[in-house]
Amino acid sequence: MTPSPAEGERLQKVLARVGLGSRRLCEELIEDGRVTVNGEVAVLGRRVDVDHDRVEVDGAPIGVRPGLVHYLLNKPTGVVTTASDPQGRPTVVDLVPAEPRVFPVGRLDLDTEGLLLLTNDGELANRVAHPSHGVEKEYLAEVEGEPSRATLRRLREGVDLDDGPTAPAQASLVAPTLVKLVIHEGRNRQVRRMLDAVGHPVVRLIRTRIGPLADRRLAPGTWRHLTEAELRLLEAALAEPTDLGDYPGTGGR
Ligand code: URA
Repeated sequence: MTPSPAEGERLQKVLARVGLGSRRLCEELIEDGRVTVNGEVAVLGRRVDVDHDRVEVDGAPIGVRPGLVHYLLNKPTGVVTTASDPQGRPTVVDLVPAEPRVFPVGRLDLDTEGLLLLTNDGELANRVAHPSHGVEKEYLAEVEGEPSRATLRRLREGVDLDDGPTAPAQASLVAPTLVKLVIHEGRNRQVRRMLDAVGHPVVRLIRTRIGPLADRRLAPGTWRHLTEAELRLLEAALAEPTDLGDYPGTGGR
């Protein structure tokens, strides 16, 4: 019997994930009879198990099982960015499927919220995490006090930290106590230390973008697959030259 799992994933969601277009567009592909599951024309609402069902669009199989997975997680506070915590605290890996095993790319502090990439793609992970590739990371920081224009200028020019000056950053005010900071480096507690150094300790910190990856609708504690289009954009961002000069920890370029 053709597997027709009640729990599988909705076909249009699977199609959208592998980059065939928006959810709506993928629904149209199904409505137009262009999608088959195990050789049968699929109807809207069909659920599939990508590990067992053969999905084809216009007769061509879709690449749903490349073996590599890339998740975008909205990390809540109180969750540790590690694969396993000796103190038994909840980890980011607990929030995504257990199989295949994935690991976090880079790190967000226990108290930091926001976007984190998890993958089993070691090669991509190394490139995203390495500062020489200069993938931008955007943060929203709620701070104590109201930063002045001179303070923003200091953040932009680079701040002296105990492990050396930071590279130039983009800094702007979104509200009187809300700073948007875009950095390329990934030094330990960097945003908190930069804002401490200019006299505005962080009250709340959220990562809102990793290179081209942003998602305002992803609820805290939830995750989704990166789309093929997002993966392509990420690859493109990794290929762009950066201008980090000889700042510490970047290895120059
Ligand atoms: N900078 C910080 O200070 N903390 C984070 O979690 C990420 C960047």
